[in-house]
Amino acid sequence: MNFYLKIMFCFTFYLCFVFTSISFASDPTEWSPIWKLPPGKKPENIVDETITVPGDVQKSQFFSPISCGACHPEIFKMWSGSTHANSWKNPLFQALYNLGKKTAEGEWQKQNVESCIRCHAPIGHSSGEFNMSLEDEKGGVICDFCHSVRATTGVGNAPYILSPGNAAAMEGGIKYGPFKDSPDTIHKNQYSELHTRSEFCGGCHDVSHAGNDLPIEQTYTEWREGPYNTGDPETSVHCQDCHMRQRPGFPSTGSTERPDNPGFATPEILGGIKRPHIWTHYFVGGSVVPISLPPNSELQPQMAVERLQNAATLAIHAVSDVQRSGMLKFQVDIMNTGAGHYLPTGLTEARQMWLEVSVTDSEGKTLYQSGTVDEGGKIDSETTIYHTVFGDEKGEPTLFVWAATHIISDNRVPPKGKKEERFACLIPNNIIPPIKIKAILNYRSAPQYVIDNLLGEKAIKLPIIKMAELSVETN
Ligand code: HEC
Ligand code: HEC
Ligand code: HEC
Ligand code: HEC
Ligand code: HEC
Repeated sequence: MNFYLKIMFCFTFYLCFVFTSISFASDPTEWSPIWKLPPGKKPENIVDETITVPGDVQKSQFFSPISCGACHPEIFKMWSGSTHANSWKNPLFQALYNLGKKTAEGEWQKQNVESCIRCHAPIGHSSGEFNMSLEDEKGGVICDFCHSVRATTGVGNAPYILSPGNAAAMEGGIKYGPFKDSPDTIHKNQYSELHTRSEFCGGCHDVSHAGNDLPIEQTYTEWREGPYNTGDPETSVHCQDCHMRQRPGFPSTGSTERPDNPGFATPEILGGIKRPHIWTHYFVGGSVVPISLPPNSELQPQMAVERLQNAATLAIHAVSDVQRSGMLKFQVDIMNTGAGHYLPTGLTEARQMWLEVSVTDSEGKTLYQSGTVDEGGKIDSETTIYHTVFGDEKGEPTLFVWAATHIISDNRVPPKGKKEERFACLIPNNIIPPIKIKAILNYRSAPQYVIDNLLGEKAIKLPIIKMAELSVETN
């Protein structure tokens, strides 16, 4: 941008700040997408235009989810129990967001905190209404946000171009979706190639720090650079192929079948057509508790367990001869067989995945143990946790993304890749073989102390989900 224009921009935004107290410190159009895709390799509706910026659209233009539910009742029910429905009200998000507003220091940290609502309350952001009430039915990632996306300018940092109807005037506008032959109804319909591809989800599921560009969440990038993106539309497995085929009994991961879900998007009497496949809207990840999920979520908690239990497999190799050395050495491999991205992904500074390992003798006496959790929910401190650690300006680890300046470590498991962990323990010589080695792969959404600190009395005990388990016997 040319220098004078830039000054004009600053000036305009300064005026906005003074007169309408819109708290944008910098030009929001300058926060560019992480990926600009090469021409020819992108959906037609990834374009070179300006993204929707705060105030371009009005909140009253968007329909509430319940009004979409009138004709799409099944989809509404699925979505209502999802983290997308809860992304604004989510107490954990609110606690962190409010802490950020209070404690962020300096322009670059503040910019990052201002960016949170871009994805967590996208209607609030694009309408310039940054302080929506928690009860607002248009908070969250709602139907009429996703289906009013006409185009994007790339992938990451929410580079959306919205083209809503006008709910206030009962004009449905155009809904963008996967069908090429939907009859027009209260709303018009248009096929959007973008909606059928990972690039749509990647709009929000690839996040960099708004003040210093540090990559914070890289789910799309991990997928893009991984084996599920073959480059061939026939064989690529997109986010939707795993996450929008899941329904109870069909976890639909990389290691299971992902069958079609035939049915209707709208009941036949309301104009729906029988389709070979209806994309489900449960949007299940690893979240199981009603802070991440809305309190009325019925099916998602069990579906998240099913998903996690089809994400990874374990192998154990005993590598030493106990009889001769008195020492048992072994290796446990963790294979990411089910996730289309790193395991875990997303908010990886909080997520925890770790091995719980025990060695017992033929009478069940414990000879070695690691990865156990005490009553307060603390994992034994010797344990390797598979996650990301961010560092702040002083080089100290931090869980507060706005203060993050670099990545200290990242030891997660790549898609279709593996991590090996080695163990050694002394075996007393009076032990009668066989010796049993047992390994369990565990997942928890966050350390318990983080939840306790952020939510105080409202804190909930986070369950530990057993993703995989394996035992072998050795002499
Ligand atoms: C009066 C009933 C009615 C309401 C209200 C309604 N829809 Fe629809 N919608 C339909 C019908 C009928 C279809 C066509 C279904 C088919 O093709 O099988 C449809 C199709 C769609 C499609 C598929 C478009 C495509 O081309 O792929 C999307 C997306 C959609 N609706 C989203 C919404 C959203 C979002 C809302 C709320 C803002 C909403 N609908 C409200 C009746 C309705
Ligand atoms: C996070 C974005 C997102 C949200 C929120 C969302 N959808 Fe969708 N929806 C999609 C995508 C993406 C597809 C198409 C997937 C594909 O083609 O791979 C889709 C497909 C559809 C379709 C076509 C039928 C089908 O399911 O295949 C309808 C109708 C629809 N959505 C309605 C709704 C309604 C109603 C809501 C709210 C209750 C909603 N959507 C919420 C992203 C979303
Ligand atoms: C407007 C931004 C936005 C778009 C677009 C979007 N998501 Fe999300 N998604 C979010 C946010 C924010 C959360 C976290 C909500 C929470 O936990 O409170 C989330 C959560 C999820 C989760 C649940 C994670 C968990 O911890 O359980 C899954 C799975 C998911 N999204 C998949 C998708 C898929 C698949 C698409 C594309 C069809 C998509 N999302 C599009 C913003 C978005
Ligand atoms: C091959 C299947 C597959 C594909 C493709 C896939 N996922 Fe996943 N996803 C999984 C599985 C299995 C899990 C559960 C394990 C986990 O939590 O990491 C998961 C978990 C998640 C989570 C929750 C992570 C956490 O622990 O908080 C999010 C968010 C998510 N996926 C988003 C996406 C997005 C966005 C894409 C596309 C860029 C995508 N997924 C592509 C299988 C897939
Ligand atoms: C560009 C989009 C984007 C921005 C900006 C963004 N997030 Fe998120 N956030 C997501 C997505 C996508 C997820 C889901 C990932 C997952 O579940 O692992 C998520 C998940 C979360 C969660 C986990 C919720 C749960 O219940 O597990 C918290 C907390 C959170 N974000 C806080 C923030 C804060 C605070 C900010 C601002 C400093 C922020 N986010 C900015 C996209 C975004």
